[in-house]
Amino acid sequence: MMLPIRLYPEEILRRECRPVTDFDAELRRLAAAMVETMHAAPGVGLAAPQVGRDLRLAVVDVTVGEEEDALLVLVNPELVESSGSEIDVEGCLSIPDLTEKVERPSSIAVQASDLDGNDFEVEAEGLVARAICHEIDHLNGILFVDHLRGLRRDRARRHLRRLERDAVGVTA
Ligand code: NI
Repeated sequence: MMLPIRLYPEEILRRECRPVTDFDAELRRLAAAMVETMHAAPGVGLAAPQVGRDLRLAVVDVTVGEEEDALLVLVNPELVESSGSEIDVEGCLSIPDLTEKVERPSSIAVQASDLDGNDFEVEAEGLVARAICHEIDHLNGILFVDHLRGLRRDRARRHLRRLERDAVGVTA
């Protein structure tokens, strides 16, 4: 099932999400719907607040459905290690039409649970590490634009103001 993607400046995108405690059929349905929505968008990651759910759940697939093994479903993910740094272009399904270069760790380790509540650890580099960091940020109410400085931040702020105006609509 496709879910509508919440757009900036919706309040839920700024929330610190609640940990998942019920590893039930509803969680599975939500995760499956998030994967479908991410692939259709298309995007390489999606976090629960982006579909209006205040939960620490994110999905990542840098192959956008090309390789089944590439799909990561992360429940209650925590960054446990990070090293190096890399600057690359990022965008967000909740902030249409904006991409900017963002600095992220080049290599990370993350602890998470799967949909059955079993813990696992994943190590990632490059684009996968970037996508996971971006999604964990979402679970803490942080958007990629929050990492920008200088001219990039100014450009992003102008774009965000336009999105705020569009959300309110024109009153005449
Ligand atoms: Ni995003």
